[in-house]
Amino acid sequence: MFTFFRCCILPAIKLYWLGFRVLLGQLLCKTFKLPEMPRQEGKVAIVTGGGRGIGFEVALHLAGLGAHVIIGQRDSLSDQIISLDNVIEFLTLDLGSLQSVRHFVHSFKNRHLPLNILVNNAGIMLVPEGRTEDGFELHFGVNYLGHFLLTWLLLDNLKQSGTSDCFSRVVNVSSSAHRIGEVQLNDLNSSEYYSAHAAYCSSKLALLVFSLQLQRVLRAGGSPVSSCAVDPGMVHTALYQHMWAPLRLAQGTIAQLLFWTPKQGAATVLYTALSPALERGRAEDYWVNGRRQMTSPVTFHPQLQLSLWETTMQLLGLQ
Ligand SMILES: NC(=O)c1ccc[n+]([C@@H]2O[C@H](COP(=O)([O-])OP(=O)(O)OC[C@H]3O[C@@H](n4cnc5c(N)ncnc54)[C@H](OP(=O)(O)O)[C@@H]3O)[C@@H](O)[C@H]2O)c1
Repeated sequence: MFTFFRCCILPAIKLYWLGFRVLLGQLLCKTFKLPEMPRQEGKVAIVTGGGRGIGFEVALHLAGLGAHVIIGQRDSLSDQIISLDNVIEFLTLDLGSLQSVRHFVHSFKNRHLPLNILVNNAGIMLVPEGRTEDGFELHFGVNYLGHFLLTWLLLDNLKQSGTSDCFSRVVNVSSSAHRIGEVQLNDLNSSEYYSAHAAYCSSKLALLVFSLQLQRVLRAGGSPVSSCAVDPGMVHTALYQHMWAPLRLAQGTIAQLLFWTPKQGAATVLYTALSPALERGRAEDYWVNGRRQMTSPVTFHPQLQLSLWETTMQLLGLQ
């Protein structure tokens, strides 16, 4: 009974309490407005989960600035090209399938395009217990592992496309929920006890730890690529669709009135992906509402960063 409370009820209480505090903060502070960003002609960006929500706004804005945008998306729009003034392409990508990630990268590499911006945006939240094609817990597999593999396989392209004056950028869309996540290296798959709330928070913590470790690795190697993480804020999107039905009803009304719009949620993601003020490797760390913010203390443990990195490499059969 106590274990059930600690592992299932407590994470839910913590997440809703955190959500309440974040929302209050959002209401009290000024919402970040994206300044005008430079044109992006000749640049190529990949945005995962860009078919709707925050990712869609990111993709649209990038394309509006002249970038060639490739949306990694698992639905039927895939493999189509939408012509705006510029180009948004849809390429099939299911982050819950390592084979699909590898296939996506293979298709991209066959195009011989540069890669200047990678936005790891796709995400799922509070989904019922389930496994990815490769047997990983869904939040862990989609939000974290799929993006880790995607980034790893695209690193060469990012390095080749960056210069000392104009770094390529990786932007990982994490969440304030990382603050209550735990990375349990001996149970990354939540096999002992499943809590959708805990699994979401932990996957966002893992993505953030990955982002910080990648930043360190890139800096140590002198690569012209930067890595940062972003919390887009509480944004009115379909991400909340798996909440418990009565809560979902209340959330829908509150979200319409008080949450940020997807466009507002996209602003910090776009800022870290594009801002000339963050050139030469300054697009690092963790960003919220247009500003750098401290992450939770656990993210500073060098041993955790290294262990998670190494365990992930083993799980993915890399190196
Ligand atoms: N909304 C918020 O309040 C909030 C707060 C903090 C962080 N975030 C983060 O922001 C990011 C964007 O979320 P959102 O609010 O825009 O949610 P959303 O509207 O639900 O969009 C999520 C996107 O991820 C895609 N996706 C889900 N599973 C996928 C998979 N297996 N493979 C490829 N793509 C997949 C979805 O595609 P399908 O159409 O195929 O499902 C969709 O395009 C997420 O990482 C989320 O955790 C959001």
